[in-house]
Amino acid sequence: MSSLRILIVGGGGREHALARRLAREDAVAEVILAPGNEGAARHFRCFSVAESDAGALAALCARERVNLVVIGPEAPLAAGVADALRERGVATFGPSREAARLESSKWFAKQIMISAGVPTARAERHERWTEAQQALDRFRAPWVIKADGLAAGKGVCVARERAEAERFVAGCLEGRLGAGGRSVVIEEFLEGEEATIMAICDGMRHVLLAPARDFKRALDHDHGPNTGGMGSCAPLERVDASLEREVGERIVQPVLEAMSRRGSPYRGLLYCGLMIGSSDVRVLEFNARFGDPETQAVLPITGGALGALLKSAAMGSLDDGAITREHGAAVAVALVDEGYPDALRGGGRIEGLDRMEDSDTHVIHAAAAWRDGAWTASGGRAAYVVAEGPSVAAARERAYRAIDRLGGSGWRCRRDIAAGGGGGEAESAAGAASGAHGG
Ligand code: AMP
Ligand code: GLY
Repeated sequence: MSSLRILIVGGGGREHALARRLAREDAVAEVILAPGNEGAARHFRCFSVAESDAGALAALCARERVNLVVIGPEAPLAAGVADALRERGVATFGPSREAARLESSKWFAKQIMISAGVPTARAERHERWTEAQQALDRFRAPWVIKADGLAAGKGVCVARERAEAERFVAGCLEGRLGAGGRSVVIEEFLEGEEATIMAICDGMRHVLLAPARDFKRALDHDHGPNTGGMGSCAPLERVDASLEREVGERIVQPVLEAMSRRGSPYRGLLYCGLMIGSSDVRVLEFNARFGDPETQAVLPITGGALGALLKSAAMGSLDDGAITREHGAAVAVALVDEGYPDALRGGGRIEGLDRMEDSDTHVIHAAAAWRDGAWTASGGRAAYVVAEGPSVAAARERAYRAIDRLGGSGWRCRRDIAAGGGGGEAESAAGAASGAHGG
C-alpha cells in the first residue's frame, strides 16, 4: 500500500538522491522537496519554502498531508527545525537542535566522545592567544585546527607551516571562522585512510549503511583545496564486516547511549567521519545528517524499505530489518564550475547531461539551471554522474564513459574518483595535509 507522503528538506544533490531512492518504493505515494532544485523539479514537485522556516514547512506538511519529513542539510537541524516539526506532530527524521550539536559544535562532540569512551584524536579548546600558542608548541606539525561551530565548509585547517596555523587560530579567536564564538580547537594529527559510515538511529538503536568514501580535494591525486566533495564511492573494500561491527559497537552505540543519558536522544542520521589507522579506527568528525556526496553512492546499493526504516527511526522504534545491502557498487562524480571551490566563474554549460540516463547511469542534480538547451552550473557543484556496477572499478568505468560523452565548456570533474577501488589512490592524511580547509 502506498501510504508514505515524504517531504525532503534541502536543495542539493543529497536531497535529489534521497528523493530518487525513496520514490522507487511501493510504500511511498509521493516525495516532494522544499526547496529542491531545478533538476529535481523535473521529477518531483518542489516548493519554494526556505529550509529553516519551520512554520512554513509545517504548513506545507499539513497542506500536502505529509507523514514523514527527512531533513537534509545541517543548518535547519542546528536551527531546531526538527524540534519544531515534531512539536507540531509531524514525524521527522533528523536530530533535535541539542542532539545536532554533535555536528554544530566540534567541542561538544569531543566531550561526548570522551565521556562515552569513543576513540578520537586528543584535543584542547582555547580562547586566548597565548594558550593557543602554547598548544601549537605542544602538538607540533602538522597542526589540525578547527573552528568550534558550523563554518560552511571552512572550519578545519590542516597546516604544515606554523604561520598558516597561527593565521587560522587568529581567525577562530577573532570570531571570523565558525559560529561557535571566539574559541579554537587544536587536535592531534591522525594518519590513515578516511572512511564514512552512516548510521540510521532511533535514539537507542541503529542500522549502518554501506561504508563509503568522499573525495574532498579539488584536483586529481588529492591536490588542491578541500571542497564539499568531488565524488564518492560505496562500498569501501577496506571496511570489512568486523571493522563495521567495531564502528557500531565502539562508536555509534556508546554515542547513542551518552546522548540518551543527557536527555537528548539522537534520532536521525549519525555520520561518522573516520580515520582508519594501522591499528585502530578513530573518529575525525560527526555530522548530524546524510553525507553529501556519499549519499549519492550509498543509496543505489541500499535495498529494501528505506522509507519504512526512516519512518520507524523518526517514531523511535527502529525497524532494523527494513533495509538490505545490495550486491555491487556505485560511484558518483561531481561536475563542477571550472573555478570551484574558490573562484566560481558561473555559466559552465554541460552538454548532453539531459540525455545520459540508462540502466546503469543516472544524473543527480544540485546547482544546475536549464538555459538555452543545456544544464548550466549555477553554483559550485552543478550535478553528479552516478554509475552502478558489479564492483567499484566497473561502476567507475561506467561513470567516466558517460562523462566522456558530455560536451560544453566551463565545467570540470576529477578524473580519479574511486581509482584503485576507492582506497588505492586515496589520500593518506599525511600526504594531503597541507592547507586543507574543509569540514
Ligand atoms: P572534519 O570536518 O573534521 O572532517 O575535517 C575535514 C578534513 O580535515 C578531514 O576529512 C580530514 O581530511 C582532515 N582532518 C580533520 N581532523 C583531522 C585529524 N585529527 N587528523 C588528520 N586529518 C584531519
Ligand atoms: N561529505 C562530507 C559531508 O557531507 O560533510
